[in-house]
Amino acid sequence: MPESNLYKKAAVISGSCYILISIYLMIESGVYDLFTANRALADSAYILIGLSFAYSGLSYFFKLSPAAFILRKQLGIIGFVFALIHSVFSGLMYIFIPIDPIFAFDHVWNFLGRETPNVLAFLPGIASLAILVFMTAISGNAGMKWLGNRWRPALRVGYLAIFLTVFHFSIKSYSGWRLYLLSPLKLPPITLLLAVFGLAVILLRVALQIAISLKKNKKVDQKDP
Ligand code: HEM
Repeated sequence: MPESNLYKKAAVISGSCYILISIYLMIESGVYDLFTANRALADSAYILIGLSFAYSGLSYFFKLSPAAFILRKQLGIIGFVFALIHSVFSGLMYIFIPIDPIFAFDHVWNFLGRETPNVLAFLPGIASLAILVFMTAISGNAGMKWLGNRWRPALRVGYLAIFLTVFHFSIKSYSGWRLYLLSPLKLPPITLLLAVFGLAVILLRVALQIAISLKKNKKVDQKDP
């Protein structure tokens, strides 16, 4: 299938993801403004990137057909574009409305019972963006040629981006999670669901690594009884 068609399909999936997330956020917070739209972009970016990373583990453990994951690269790239727009918009808000606690470097959040400055939520966002820029830069044929057999291992740095992003949004969201867990009468905060999703993507990769090493060891034992 030509690459432009793959991008069209991936755009439809990404757009649908954005709309569903927007509806969830509208129900969760009761408003839909530019800031909610920015959150919906960030959440969709994270889900698209997470799904594109989960590909190897899902196909290994659940024996899914390769056709199910033909859009892996395109979903990852569109996820990156969403993350970039979210980063630029949020970065500008840090400059233009630094009195809003969400965008104030010196605001202090309660994270796991500790006073945590907002700058510790900002820095992992920047680091995660830098990793995604690197991954997008090497994702094409030129990157593959340049890195040779180090190309696949180089892409694994993406799991660090997922981890940093979980940290990035958990700091601001932790108090909301506590309130919800103490009295779970409404929809769960979307960031709580996203944190579980991100940790599942990372654990799936760890499980895959262990399964591959066990398989390799078994082969060596069979060859060398
Ligand atoms: C320069 C880089 C970045 C900055 C300045 C930044 C800033 C922010 C800010 C201010 C929020 C809170 C938004 C709000 O509650 O209204 C946020 C949330 C979030 N960010 Fe970022 N971010 C950056 C990079 C990233 C990247 C690369 C990702 C990866 C996908 C990401 C994913 C998220 C997610 C998932 C949320 C939670 C949104 C929600 O509350 O539903 N961010 N970010």
